[in-house]
Amino acid sequence: MNIDICWQALESHAGSLKPQHLKDLMAQPGRFEGLSFRHEGLLLDLSRQRILPESLERLMELAQASELPRWIASLFAGEPVNDTEKRPALHTALRMPRNASLELGGEDLVPGVHANLDRMSEMVAQLHLRQWRGYTGEPIDTVVNIGVGGSDLGPVMACRALSDFQPVQAQGLKIHFVSSMDGSQLAELLDQLNPATTLFIVSSKSFTTIDTLANAETARRWLAEASGIADDILVSRHFVAVTASPKKAQEWGVPEHNQLHFWDWTGGRYSMWSTIGFPIALKIGMDNFRAMLAGAHALDDHFRTAPLGGNLPVLLAMIGIWNINLLDIHAHAILPYDGRLAHLPAYLEQLEMESNGKSVRRDGQPSAHRTCPVLWGEVGPNAQHAFYQLLHQGTEPVMCDFVVPVRRYSQQSETLKRQHQLALANCLAQARVLALGDAALDTEPPTPWQHYSGNQPSTVIMLEELSPRTFGALIALYEHKVFVQSVIWGINPFDQWGVELGKKMANRMLEVLGSAAADEGLDASTEGLLQEIRRLRDN
Ligand code: F6P
Repeated sequence: MNIDICWQALESHAGSLKPQHLKDLMAQPGRFEGLSFRHEGLLLDLSRQRILPESLERLMELAQASELPRWIASLFAGEPVNDTEKRPALHTALRMPRNASLELGGEDLVPGVHANLDRMSEMVAQLHLRQWRGYTGEPIDTVVNIGVGGSDLGPVMACRALSDFQPVQAQGLKIHFVSSMDGSQLAELLDQLNPATTLFIVSSKSFTTIDTLANAETARRWLAEASGIADDILVSRHFVAVTASPKKAQEWGVPEHNQLHFWDWTGGRYSMWSTIGFPIALKIGMDNFRAMLAGAHALDDHFRTAPLGGNLPVLLAMIGIWNINLLDIHAHAILPYDGRLAHLPAYLEQLEMESNGKSVRRDGQPSAHRTCPVLWGEVGPNAQHAFYQLLHQGTEPVMCDFVVPVRRYSQQSETLKRQHQLALANCLAQARVLALGDAALDTEPPTPWQHYSGNQPSTVIMLEELSPRTFGALIALYEHKVFVQSVIWGINPFDQWGVELGKKMANRMLEVLGSAAADEGLDASTEGLLQEIRRLRDN
């Protein structure tokens, strides 16, 4: 079917559904069974979306007409789907098992992927066995990951999400993360650290990101001042570089044997599966890290082979298309009901908005459709005491993803078990009230201010439990969702040109800040602020 006809059919179908309230749609028999889908320990419940089962059929027609199956095949085959940068996007290769193979330019990528994982595994073992020694000969007991964006958010998220899976040998090692350009995190942290036993991981795909290099320089200076040891010895004992640009890391001073590598075909925001995951492996051990990769790989296989109508990432993506493009909902809240998933919203902010926050199609034409919505979130129970008021009674339609594991605390106290039941109960309650509004209770609201209109659509993603495997599958689910939406909108999700102009401009501003002269090319507002900064700074 032709794409325009699919959009028209969807618009007329949405037109007939829009006046219907979710409470009426949800009263239909068999709805949960018809609109919930399972794979790899994940349950995707779409029954609180403002759809009918036939809406999904129409959405799948659009996916077919957009040649989604061909795009999925191209992604996995390593075709240059990142066309503006003329390269493939092969994060899926990073989680392929050792016995698999994937040819790119006549070379099988899988042995290289596993060689790097094995090298990372050796470094993890050295640190866990306290064999990595600092400049005094004492074993390293603290690791600081310096990185930003994709070189920070994935490892931060995974280390927190999987902290229950820390093996005994990892328990003596403290892991910290530093990302902020202004040095505030680092300055605070350095006051508490022992230079003799601290190792810095400089994580940067490009090894040019100023935020990361500025923090790394400060760390290097701190070590030099504390130790009085020659720089090359310090760097070789106290710095590891994780990068796709080995030459640049070498120029900075990190010797080859202290480097872990990955490839330019791994996008920064898709890199936690590569050696960028080094801090994750240090936290949870290599076995658990490999289990996380296996969970993501299982989801990859599902995405690659399952029919569109039962394909979890496709369903999650097409529900987003429905909400954004047919119901005009442009805000998306991510609400995990488990504190271990506290960093999931920040991770998805980058994954979704840096990937699909675009308005020019692959063919250079402006997008005919609205693309990525504004996405934000917070641990659900905390958000209930912060922004849920807007979800319940504000004027903005918002789509929500509730993410919740079912089993937790099997070995812990009864009070902790009850706390998890409390979180589950709140998740169910909020999804219900957002959908049904006042109809969730049998009584009429006594005042207009106590009226809940409901009709806010949500998806519940339920995990049997939060384990390395289900966590890997969950993140792969969102990665592929983003890819599917990019196909429907006709945009390239793997570049980020929008970030570049800000970086260039910041360099220029740095020069201007360092000189006293007025810069003629500047606008009056910037010039006014510059003068104010100079006046305050220099007096
Ligand atoms: O913000 C732009 C960006 O390039 C992200 O895509 C990336 O994750 C981040 O900067 C960090 O880049 P690098 O790993 O090269 O330091």
